[in-house]
Amino acid sequence: MTILIIGGTRGTGKICVEQLLAQGKQVRLAARNAEKARKLFGDRVEHVVVDLAHPDGALKRAFDGVEQVVFTAAVGAGPAKESEVRAVDFEGVVATVTAAEEAGFTGRFVYMTTTGVHHRSAFMGFLNFIKGDLSGWRARAEQAITEGGLDYVIVRAGALTNGAGGQALQITAGDRPLTFGTWVNRSDVAAVILERLFASDALPRDISVVHA
Ligand SMILES: NC(=O)c1ccc[n+]([C@@H]2O[C@H](COP(=O)([O-])OP(=O)(O)OC[C@H]3O[C@@H](n4cnc5c(N)ncnc54)[C@H](OP(=O)(O)O)[C@@H]3O)[C@@H](O)[C@H]2O)c1
Repeated sequence: MTILIIGGTRGTGKICVEQLLAQGKQVRLAARNAEKARKLFGDRVEHVVVDLAHPDGALKRAFDGVEQVVFTAAVGAGPAKESEVRAVDFEGVVATVTAAEEAGFTGRFVYMTTTGVHHRSAFMGFLNFIKGDLSGWRARAEQAITEGGLDYVIVRAGALTNGAGGQALQITAGDRPLTFGTWVNRSDVAAVILERLFASDALPRDISVVHA
């Protein structure tokens, strides 16, 4: 059983890889920077080079023999031009969904995004300002997933923090506004992602995860 991680060289995706390896799972890591991926995980994972801003045939091949997929990739935490947000956070998702369908992938696809994509808030307004229309492109990315034929789960996280995790969580169905108080640890989100990846019941397909 191979699990494909897209976005596993940083942040929550990297923790997902570490948690999966600790569970003895077989992981394939799709990363744009092969050297960085190798430095992080060496031969403990299979490597495939995929740049979501310039997807090619490697993206479809990445799905060969894969049973589940975790997608946490995004332009990153700092400011970004709208063209970059569109290329990675929207078109990269569309290309991934298309590649999955073309590859005949029938497993579960867990997509990580932020809370507040469907709500107006000062925090999301700020994010949209520094990362060209982030919520608009994320909403379109979700649409590509929900209207495709995949067995998907959308995991929405509040503002992300680092550290050991193990905090009590509030997990609710659907989207909730992104506010300055709604934070959550990346390790805890990774654990929720993996729980949803393997749960026999995928419902609800759309959850928000924040610190209790
Ligand atoms: N920051 C927050 O507070 C926050 C809150 C809620 C939700 N989120 C969302 O949660 C998700 C995970 O966030 P995170 O902060 O844990 O992860 P992250 O540190 O932003 O990591 C993003 C990953 O995406 C990869 N990536 C970026 N551009 C790529 C491209 N063109 N092709 C292939 N891979 C690419 C990065 O690879 P490299 O290592 O090569 O850069 C990295 O592995 C993102 O969607 C993020 O927007 C963030």
